[in-house]
Amino acid sequence: MIPREVIDEIIARNDIEQTIGSYVSLKRAGSNMNGLCPFHSEKSPSFTVFPATRSFYCFGCGAGGDVISFIMRQENLDYVGALELLASRAGIEIPSDRNALPDKGVPRARVYEMNLAAARFFRECLLDEQYGKEGLRYLHEERGLSMATIRHFGLGFAPDHWWALTNHMRRLGFTEEELIEGFLCKRSEKSGKIFDLFRNRVIFPVIDTSGNIIAFGGRVMDDSKPKYLNSSDTPAFKKSRHLFALNFAKKQCAERMILCEGYMDVIALHAAGFENAVATLGTAITSEQARVFAKYTKQVVICYDSDAAGQTAASKAMRLLGEVGVDVRVLKLSGAKDPDEYIKKFGQDSFRRVLDSSMTGFEFRLEKILSEYNLQIAEEKIRASNAVCGMIAEAHSHVERDIYVKKAADRLELSADALRTDVERIRRRRASDARKKDAKDAQLSIKHIGDRVNVDSAKNIRATQAEEALLGLMLMFEEFRREAADGRAPIRAEDFSTEFGRRVFSEICRLERGEYGFSKGMLAEHFSPDELGRIEKMEVDRRLLNRNDRDVFLAAIDTIKEEHSRTEESDDFAEELRKRQEAYQARIKNKNT
Ligand code: UTP
Ligand code: MN
Repeated sequence: MIPREVIDEIIARNDIEQTIGSYVSLKRAGSNMNGLCPFHSEKSPSFTVFPATRSFYCFGCGAGGDVISFIMRQENLDYVGALELLASRAGIEIPSDRNALPDKGVPRARVYEMNLAAARFFRECLLDEQYGKEGLRYLHEERGLSMATIRHFGLGFAPDHWWALTNHMRRLGFTEEELIEGFLCKRSEKSGKIFDLFRNRVIFPVIDTSGNIIAFGGRVMDDSKPKYLNSSDTPAFKKSRHLFALNFAKKQCAERMILCEGYMDVIALHAAGFENAVATLGTAITSEQARVFAKYTKQVVICYDSDAAGQTAASKAMRLLGEVGVDVRVLKLSGAKDPDEYIKKFGQDSFRRVLDSSMTGFEFRLEKILSEYNLQIAEEKIRASNAVCGMIAEAHSHVERDIYVKKAADRLELSADALRTDVERIRRRRASDARKKDAKDAQLSIKHIGDRVNVDSAKNIRATQAEEALLGLMLMFEEFRREAADGRAPIRAEDFSTEFGRRVFSEICRLERGEYGFSKGMLAEHFSPDELGRIEKMEVDRRLLNRNDRDVFLAAIDTIKEEHSRTEESDDFAEELRKRQEAYQARIKNKNT
């Protein structure tokens, strides 16, 4: 366990306003700060930072906690990872006693070290007269990459051998477990020996924005399958979060970035001078990656393969990027299947021209809809027009809708007035549907249905409210915490009706009794980010009320116990009913036979 003093110091030295402010743009609102929540997409700010209690809470999505849980969510780190990051930012040393840290497998830093050694090995192999010939021929001659580009991206080659890397890494002192955790080796089920995962493939290292090598992609040099082998998630890598070549692109990307499908597209674009190109890593773009784009740039041009799969993926990417507020454009290449091929065929100047004339999201979607209908047939034209109006109705600004209506009217050869009337009708209908849905959602949430953090709350509404009140008070005031922890207050974990409430109660008491005493930062070790958000809410809810005295504390205890004995009774009663029913059915059966 990391000592409480160290955790407290990490929290104290990473000012919450500044730390969160470096990710989210915050505006002062009284003594608190508001901003757009980085954890869900929203248009009006419901994300709040409370400097006084060094915490944050989003009234929209329920994310909340302290600076440690913020970093866990934002940087996708586990508890120890977040502490390490914050400690290093503040120049604090975490006691290195290995059993002081909970066992979380191979530390991230060790994976970086291992990947660096592996990348060097792959690079040396590529340049080796004997082993690397095939790889170099493929990259340089067949794919036309210059030696400068090969060096720039640190490309490499994994020899056609089962233990080339394994033996090399062992000599450097890496253990079998480390090599397996780092996704470089695998253990054979038959022999029990470990062997190289990347064999006879050209290697593309993936580098994060701090310059660490976090993963590898390996491509075969013929048509065999799988075409690419990619690192799975490791302690140092999450493919849903990272982007290939962002380490280079981050320097050229303030105005615009290019999102393409694959490693080779990115490399071809960089080599042609478009160093703002990146790609996802063998997956469709995620909302996490969309947020990364929003952090770095104003505009993203999506440049996926021109086949149907590429265009469908482009639609999805457009939606995710639109949600985080970047200006999205789509490039449709003609005469080539992907940007790599396009540049080879038509050159970089031609690519720059198509880049500048890329379609806006609206144009892309308009063309897509129009291509699905035969506009010569009246019925089809009506359906196309309905679909187009439905899309235009999504735009929030009048000006935007006006521009779209005019363009669409042109393309459909209909009057703008007719389209405008339809668009506004659709908007009114949607607004009323949305109001109805909101009202229904609100009702549902009152009933706690669908609560995934506290799954027992739906069945125990009154108990849940009392439990949250009690826990909120314990989080706020040391005296209540003490009384509960040392047994002076008449409440025990068994009195709780919900499993979640019981766990939170037990953990607060355990920490309070422990060597270091309670600190909210220490909860992050045992609860998930969603759970931490709920815990934060308990405190926020209490703080918004004026009455938080001993009477409230005792009343909550009474209710918790009352509710618990009531549910126990009703369990007993249900059991009794079930027995009676069984006996009754047995009697009927006997009669009939
Ligand atoms: P592509 O098949 O378009 O490959 O897949 P590419 O990058 O254009 O490579 P070349 O030009 O054919 O050599 C696009 C991306 O999808 C992922 C890789 O990230 C690839 O770059 N992919 C593809 C995989 O992860 N595994 C595969 O088997 C295939
Ligand atoms: Mn491709």
